[in-house]
Amino acid sequence: MARILITSALPYINGIKHLGNLAGSMLPADVWARFKRAQGHEVLYICATDEHGTPAELAAAAAGQDVRTYCDEQHEIQKAAGQAFGLSYDWFGRSSNPQNHRLTQHFAEALEKNGLIEERVDRMIYSIDDARFLPDRYVEGTCPHCGHVGARGDQCDNCGRLLDPTDLIDPYSSVSGSRNLEVRDTRHLYLLQTKIEPQIRAWVDGKTGWQTLAKSIAYKHLDEGLIDRGITRDLAWGVPVTKDGFPRPGMEDKVFYVWFDAPIEYIAATEEWAEATGRTWRDWWRLDEGAEDVRYVQFMGKDNVAFHTVSFPATIIGSGEPWKTVDQLKAFNWLNWYGGKFSTSQKRGVFMDQALELLPADYWRWRLTAYGPEHADSAFTWEDFQASTNKDLADVLGNFVNRIVKFAESKFDGVVPEGGEAGPVEIKLEADIRAAVAEATEQFEAMEFRKAAVAVRAAWVLGNEYLQVAAPWTALKTDRDRAAVGVRTGLNLVALFARLAAPILPFSAEKIAASVGSTDLSWPAADEDLLNRLPVGGKVEAQGVLFAKIEDAQVAEWSERFGGAE
Ligand code: MF3
Ligand code: ZN
Repeated sequence: MARILITSALPYINGIKHLGNLAGSMLPADVWARFKRAQGHEVLYICATDEHGTPAELAAAAAGQDVRTYCDEQHEIQKAAGQAFGLSYDWFGRSSNPQNHRLTQHFAEALEKNGLIEERVDRMIYSIDDARFLPDRYVEGTCPHCGHVGARGDQCDNCGRLLDPTDLIDPYSSVSGSRNLEVRDTRHLYLLQTKIEPQIRAWVDGKTGWQTLAKSIAYKHLDEGLIDRGITRDLAWGVPVTKDGFPRPGMEDKVFYVWFDAPIEYIAATEEWAEATGRTWRDWWRLDEGAEDVRYVQFMGKDNVAFHTVSFPATIIGSGEPWKTVDQLKAFNWLNWYGGKFSTSQKRGVFMDQALELLPADYWRWRLTAYGPEHADSAFTWEDFQASTNKDLADVLGNFVNRIVKFAESKFDGVVPEGGEAGPVEIKLEADIRAAVAEATEQFEAMEFRKAAVAVRAAWVLGNEYLQVAAPWTALKTDRDRAAVGVRTGLNLVALFARLAAPILPFSAEKIAASVGSTDLSWPAADEDLLNRLPVGGKVEAQGVLFAKIEDAQVAEWSERFGGAE
C-alpha cells in the first residue's frame, strides 16, 4: 500500500466552474483518486478555492458584495457543486484561511533569509479615474505577442504567455473601462528567480515522471530565461506582507500576489484537513518528517503548468526547506465549446450547476473523461454528448446490465443460479476479459484516461458479445444447466463492470453492483478469479433505468437554451 497525495488546481472563487475547468483538473484528479483508493492505497486528495487576487475582487465588485462575504458564499456553492459531481476531495479548503496566511508569510520569510527577496521600485499602471493601482487583471488591453484584444494584465488567454500589465498595448481599466492611465512608482517585493534558475532546471531534469506536455512547457519557460518576479500587489484583499515580528516599513498596505499564495494552499489545506480530522499533515509534506515515501501527483490545465513547474518550485526550492515536491504532473488541454471557448466572464458554455439540472453527474463524467481534452484540445457539443451517452452508457453498459439481471429475475427466481460448468465460451471470455482489465489497469496507472475508458468500454462490449453467443434465453428451452452458466457468468460480469466503472461512474457503479447484491467496488487484481465471485443463491434485483437515452428533442432544447454553436 502506497501513500498518494493528489491535488487539482485550485478553482478561482469567481463563480461556479464550467465543464472545461472540471474536465481539465478536478474530474481527472477525482477519477484517479478513486482508482487508487479502489486499489487499496492510502489517498489524500486535496483541493480548495483560490480566493485572493483580482479575480476575487472583481467578481465581488460585480456582484455588489464585499469580498469576504462573496468568498464565503461562493466557497459553499463550489463545495456543494463538487460534491454533487462526486468529486471525492478529502478536503476542500480555502486559500483565505489563517493556515495559508501563516504559511505564505513563512515562505516569504524563508526566501528573504536566503537572500532571494529584494525590494524594488516598480512602475505600475495607475488609474487616475479609479484612484488606484491596476495590478494584473485590473488592466486589460491588446496582447503584445499575438495581438489578442482583451488580454488580461497577468496572462493572455489566447496565446498563454504570462504578461506584465505594462506590456499591454492600448490598456484600459477593467474596473471602469477608463483609458486615463499613467505609470507610477510603487515599491514591491521581488522573488529573485534568476538566482536559482540552475537549481530549478536541475530539479525539472530530475522529474522523470512528468508527462510530456508538462515537461515541454517547463523547459520552454526555462529556455526563454526566468525573470525576477514581483510577488506583492497594491490590493487590500489577500495575505498581508507585514506581520508581527517581521515588519516591512512601507509595505503595510500590500498583500502577496495571488499566484504566490495559491499553491502554498495545497500545503495549508492539508493542515486545515489535519486540524479538522485530528490527523497529521507534516508527514505528507515534509521530507524530514515522513513524506519521503509519499507519491505526489498534480492535475491541472495547461495554462497552469508554468506556475507549477517554475514559479511554485522557486518558492519551495528557494526556501531551502525539505518540502515534498510534485512527482507526477498531469496537464490537460482545452475543452472547447463547439468551435470556440468556454468563458466564465461571458457565461458561455455549460456550468457545473446547470449540467446537473439536465442530467446526473455520471453522464457528464463519462463524456469528459472518455472524450476529454487529454492530448489535444477537444470540443464539447450536444450532438457528440448525445451520441456517446446513448451508445456507451445506454446501449453498451446499461442494456447489458438490464438484460441479464431482468432475465435472472424472471427465469431464475432472482438469484445467482447454480448448476452447469464453464465451457469453451466462458474460458475464452475469461481470457479476453482478463486482457481488457489488464489494459484498463495499465492505462489508469499511466493516467491515460481516454485509453483507460476505451479499455473499460471494451470489457463491456465483451459482455454483450458473450450474451449473444451464450444466449441463455435460447439454452433455457433445452438445457437449464447451460442457461444457468450463461446467467451466472453474466451476473458476475455485471459485478465486474461495476468495479471497472467505479472510478469514472461512481454513482452508477453502486447501483450496478447493488443489482447483483454486491457492494464490492475495489479495483480487480490481476490474479483474481474474475467471473466466479458472486455467491450462488445471492439475490439479484434490477435497479431501474441506469442510463436514459438523450432524445433529439432534448438536444434541440439545450442547444437553444445554451446557445450551442454561436
Ligand atoms: N486558480 C487558478 C486557475 O484557475 C489555479 C490556481 S492553482 C494553485 O487558473 F496551485 F495555484 F492554487
Ligand atoms: Zn497573446
